[in-house]
Amino acid sequence: MTFEEARAAFPVLERYAYLNAGSVGPMARRTYDAIVEVERDELGPRGGYEAFNRIMELRERLRGVIGAQVGVDADHVSLTTSTSEACRVVLAGLDLGPEDEIVTTDAEHFGLLGPVHASGARVRVAGVRERPAVEAADAILGEVGPRTRLIALSHVLWINGHLIPIEELKEAVSVPLLVDGAQSVGAILVDAEPFDFYTVSGQKWLCGPTPTGGLYVRDPEGLRVGSPSYFSQRTYELDGSFEPRDCARRFDQSWIPAAFITGLEAAVGAAPDWRFEHSRENTEHSRQRLLEAGHEVVTEPGHSNLVSWRWGGNTMDAARELGEKGVVIRDLPGTGLLRASCGYWTNEDDIDRLVAGLAALRRVS
Ligand SMILES: Cc1ncc(COP(=O)(O)O)c(C=O)c1O
Repeated sequence: MTFEEARAAFPVLERYAYLNAGSVGPMARRTYDAIVEVERDELGPRGGYEAFNRIMELRERLRGVIGAQVGVDADHVSLTTSTSEACRVVLAGLDLGPEDEIVTTDAEHFGLLGPVHASGARVRVAGVRERPAVEAADAILGEVGPRTRLIALSHVLWINGHLIPIEELKEAVSVPLLVDGAQSVGAILVDAEPFDFYTVSGQKWLCGPTPTGGLYVRDPEGLRVGSPSYFSQRTYELDGSFEPRDCARRFDQSWIPAAFITGLEAAVGAAPDWRFEHSRENTEHSRQRLLEAGHEVVTEPGHSNLVSWRWGGNTMDAARELGEKGVVIRDLPGTGLLRASCGYWTNEDDIDRLVAGLAALRRVS
C-alpha cells in the first residue's frame, strides 16, 4: 500500500488537517461501509438464534484481532468498550482497601485515575509531567513501597506523548502493572505479554468505531471477576454465584454491536505495515516545524505519536478556532497545552495548515 492509497482511505483528510487520533482516529471509508452493511442486519430477526451465534463468533474473532495488535493470545483478551472500562474491570477485581497503595503518575487520564481512586486504596502519585522523560522510571519506582499492590500508568502519556519505560518497571518490581494502552496500541509496536494487565482503545490509533476496546489479562484466574456481566459465566445459581467462563472471557463486559465488531476488524485490516515508522517520522517532523515556528514544545524527541506545546492564551478557544479553519487538534484541559496527533496518514500539508493556523491565532491575540 502506498502512502497516497493509505491516506485516500480516510475521507476526512480530503478537507481537514485531522490531527486528533489521540482522542478519536480518522475513520476509513472501508470501515464505515463495513459498519453500515452489518448494521442493516438489525432490521432482520436480530434476536434470533442465528444472530446470537453469529455475534458470539464475531466476538471470538475480535478477541484474536485485538490480541494480535498487542502480541498476545486471544484467550487472554477480554472485550470491553474502552480503556476506561478495562481499568474498571481490573480495579474491581483486585479488592484493594485503605491499607493498600497504588502507584500512578501525575500525567494520567481520568479513565485510569477514576477507577484507581474509587478502589479505596491510597494513591501515590509520581511526578513525571514536569521532569525530563529519562527520569520517569526513577520517579515512579521512588513511590513503590511495601504496601504497593499495583502500579497503574500509561505506556504513552496523553499529555505529552512521552513513552514510559514499562519494561524497565516490570523488571524492577514484583507488583502487578496495569498499563493504560489508550495512546500506544496502534501508534507504536506493543508487546503486552509481560505485563499483568494492558488496555486497548479501539477508537483511537486503531481507527475503529467508538466504543470498542479490550483488556489483556496475563493470569485470568488470578483476578476476581469483580464486575460480572452475562458473558462472565458458564453456569450460575439462583443466588448469583457462578462458574466463570474460560480465561479472560470471564471479564467480557457489555454487548458490543456486530457492526462495531466488524468495523474494528475492518479498521485494523486497513492499516499498512509501515504505519509505525511513518508516524514516528511524521511526529518528529511536526515537532521540528513547531519549534522552528517558535513554539515551546514540551514533547521530547524520539517518543510517540503526540506532540504538545505551550499556548499562552485560552487553549480551548485556540483548539475551537483552529477547528473552524479545518485543523483538528486537542486542548489538554488544565495544562496550558495544545496537542497534535500525527498518524501514518499525516502529510506535510496537514502540518503546514497547523503551523499557519497557529500563526494566525497568535497575530489576532
Ligand atoms: C491515556 C488515556 N487513557 C484513557 C483514555 C480514555 O480512553 P477510552 O475512551 O478508551 O476509555 C484516554 C483518552 O483520551 C487516554 O488518552
